[in-house]
Amino acid sequence: MKVRTENGEKDIRAVWFENGKVVMIDQRRLPHELVFVSFDRYEDVAESIRNMTTRGAPSIGATAAYGMCLAALSGCDLVKAAKDIKAARPTANDLFYAVDHMTERLSEGADPIEAADAYAQSMVDKCIAIGKYGGELIKDGYRIMTHCNAGALATVDVGTALAPMRKAKSDGKKFFVYASETRPRLQGMQLTAWELNQEGMDHAIIPDGSSGHFIRQGVDMIIVGADRIAANGDFANKIGTFEKAVLAKEFGVPFYVAAPISTFDFNTATGADIVIENRSEEEVTMVGDIRIAPVGSPALNPAFDMTPARYVTGFITEKGILRPEEISKVKG
Ligand code: MRU
Repeated sequence: MKVRTENGEKDIRAVWFENGKVVMIDQRRLPHELVFVSFDRYEDVAESIRNMTTRGAPSIGATAAYGMCLAALSGCDLVKAAKDIKAARPTANDLFYAVDHMTERLSEGADPIEAADAYAQSMVDKCIAIGKYGGELIKDGYRIMTHCNAGALATVDVGTALAPMRKAKSDGKKFFVYASETRPRLQGMQLTAWELNQEGMDHAIIPDGSSGHFIRQGVDMIIVGADRIAANGDFANKIGTFEKAVLAKEFGVPFYVAAPISTFDFNTATGADIVIENRSEEEVTMVGDIRIAPVGSPALNPAFDMTPARYVTGFITEKGILRPEEISKVKG
């Protein structure tokens, strides 16, 4: 992704490997500052996933791949490393997919850095393909809604939900993006809006609760990412996705899910079997160090929700656009 810095425009990725370390953008500091952090222990890489320094399913997957790379380079027990890294977060399928992929490549004697770099690059290539297929859906003048962050930050580079927008923009199409703020961690407001801003895409941040209002006023399509897609097409994505999908059906708005095949979990039959991560109450009740909720009021904080397949118009993947009933075609 191209970002503007004090030293001019720079082309960077969300995560990469350099001089024996895994380097990543600290997504917790955006949009205020663009800060890079680096780690040379796989345990710290696992922690960077857990504490949301890095976010978004494909970026979490690539970070996990680099974590396995560090474990191999330092001669750690790879079975333990795989278990520790997988324990960082439960919902994003890419985390498990990437660790299993690296375990297999390392057992075949692959070079750890080459294998992890190839994994990250393959994610970028898949996003480019998603952009190509999804970009064709965007017509001049479209109003597009998205939720959470499924841009370059979330996917190493390019994005899943944002890839079709990047492609449409490069094809000269004009469109407008509604980015919902995504309480409580504000990925929509702080990450998606930052990316749209860097790219010069016409957009506005909207409060989560206003989605129905804007969908009724006129949205031409909704594109979101996914953290895990079950074999029947039910999928988990950031909390707040489900209600947008239901509203889209109510108002006849096409609802697309953009995700690489690594996000599909064919071992999970339906969305009811997807583990939804519950995060701390403080993410809801506090803003920074300040408590904004009454002392004594508890909070619930599911990080994801599950949207049934019947609300999905199509899955935009690197292999084309699939209706929910077609996804078994891409089973590996
Ligand atoms: O909790 P996060 O920030 O990791 O959640 C991110 C999302 O839910 C994204 O929408 C999802 O990973 C799809 S991203 C390409």
